[in-house]
Amino acid sequence: PVKVSKICCIGAGYVGGPTCAVIALKCPHIQVTIVDLNQARIDAWNSPDFNVPIYEPGLVDVIRGCRGRNLFFSTDVDKAIQEADLIFVSVNTPTKKSGVGAGFAADLHYVESATRRIAAVATSSKIVVEKSTVPCRTAESMRTILEANSKPGCRFDLLSNPEFLAEGTAINDLFAPDRVLIGSLQTQEGKDACASLTEVYANWVPRERILTVGLWSSELTKLAANAMLAQRISSVNALSAICEATGANIEEVANAVGFDSRIGPKFLRASVGFGGSCFQKDILNLVYLSESLHLPEVAAYWRQVVEMNEYQKARFSKTVVDTLFNTITGKHIAVLGFAFKADTGDTRESAAITLIRDFLSERAYVTIYDPKVEEAQIWQDLQEACPTTPLDSIKKYVTIVHSALEACKQKEAIVIATEWKEFKEINWQTVYDQMTKPAFVFDGRMILDVVQLKKIGFTVKVIGRGDRL
Ligand code: NAD
Ligand code: UDX
Repeated sequence: PVKVSKICCIGAGYVGGPTCAVIALKCPHIQVTIVDLNQARIDAWNSPDFNVPIYEPGLVDVIRGCRGRNLFFSTDVDKAIQEADLIFVSVNTPTKKSGVGAGFAADLHYVESATRRIAAVATSSKIVVEKSTVPCRTAESMRTILEANSKPGCRFDLLSNPEFLAEGTAINDLFAPDRVLIGSLQTQEGKDACASLTEVYANWVPRERILTVGLWSSELTKLAANAMLAQRISSVNALSAICEATGANIEEVANAVGFDSRIGPKFLRASVGFGGSCFQKDILNLVYLSESLHLPEVAAYWRQVVEMNEYQKARFSKTVVDTLFNTITGKHIAVLGFAFKADTGDTRESAAITLIRDFLSERAYVTIYDPKVEEAQIWQDLQEACPTTPLDSIKKYVTIVHSALEACKQKEAIVIATEWKEFKEINWQTVYDQMTKPAFVFDGRMILDVVQLKKIGFTVKVIGRGDRL
């Protein structure tokens, strides 16, 4: 097997950036260059004051530890490809917006153009690693493209190495992963390439956690893992609706269910709906795959996980309207949290966007506060969510502020959309004193002390908790 000494990562996003920065930190003998076509993104990674383009706890310390030593960020894609022995392809694979499979299939054109670039400029043999989440058998297409365009003496070995990090905990997940998965062809060359990548991870990951499998198993495992994680949330959210209707409490139910060691306690928190760039996209991808394989029952099964999530968001919006005496037109609502989960500035598929869109369609006034999301990002997301409304009109109804206290002042209702820790520490008495009465709180994340809030005078609605309690 080749001993890897230079790595190139194509794509300096949420995955490529943290993943390859951690490889650089843990493998000082390997030179790692992360490249991207987006100059602004690369400039941010290189910023002298470490103002890196994504917020992720612990990330800046990792970058500080190795940038300029054996970690480099660049837009010179070709040079990094030529120098590397091993290349990660970590570009975006969003859901297709048009054409065949629109709304379901993954858009693979970024993967394909990165692959074609490798084939076009490589002058020596490379191990090419599919890091992006892709449909089953994409590695086969990449291999065909590489082989059809390779120069004499250049061979390409393809590996699949999906990434399981979760945003907000990415650095811990990368330092101590539950497992690293590497898929390869079961030929000698495939196994050798797999051994080369295994040696890279073995610098810090215990060998028993490095799983090596066939290429297609590896690709499918990534979709399967995300589908099963999301399915747990949809299951618990479906139960939360029953709880609200009966007076049961979803926290108690989930806790007791999770005590069964076969089920386990994690990932059973009812919420306003899952968000993030992966779950919905990857399930829709699995649905599309199942349909293409003529397995309509399998497709329908997984599709329901996404439909339950849409239902949960719609149900929450409806609870707000119903509780506020069946109309929110002209009312003022504070939305605390805009990111899809705490400890990230990422807003992709955030449930907050859907809720705010619903409130705007009722012509309510919405004031938003999130500790990490940039203002420009919020405007962009709301514009995309309401494509037929000009931004100026959206801005008449939406205000973005810089503290939770400011957001809640003189509002009729507060909605908790993201579980930021600081929302637990708000002085609720002060908030109550400054609100229009009756004052309502809708906790979409089960983070507040309901008893205390009720004592202050709030009317409180919590996901998965019946009023009869
Ligand atoms: P991202 O959009 O943050 O980053 C992708 C980057 O690739 C962008 O900066 C883009 O400019 C760059 N790029 C696209 N085409 C390029 C090309 N031809 N040459 C050079 N650069 C190019 O995306 P992400 O969140 O990092 O996700 C990347 C992949 O990893 C996706 O397939 C995603 O499904 C998967 N994934 C994401 C997560 C997550 O938590 N975000 C977790 C696991 C897996
Ligand atoms: C997910 C997978 O966890 C990760 O392994 C994969 O690599 C990428 O996709 P991510 O989307 O970053 O990671 O975050 P995750 O912690 O999984 O949360 C996804 C969404 O589910 C968030 O909106 C979160 O708030 C929600 N969630 C999570 C719940 O509603 N309840 C839970 O119990 C857990």
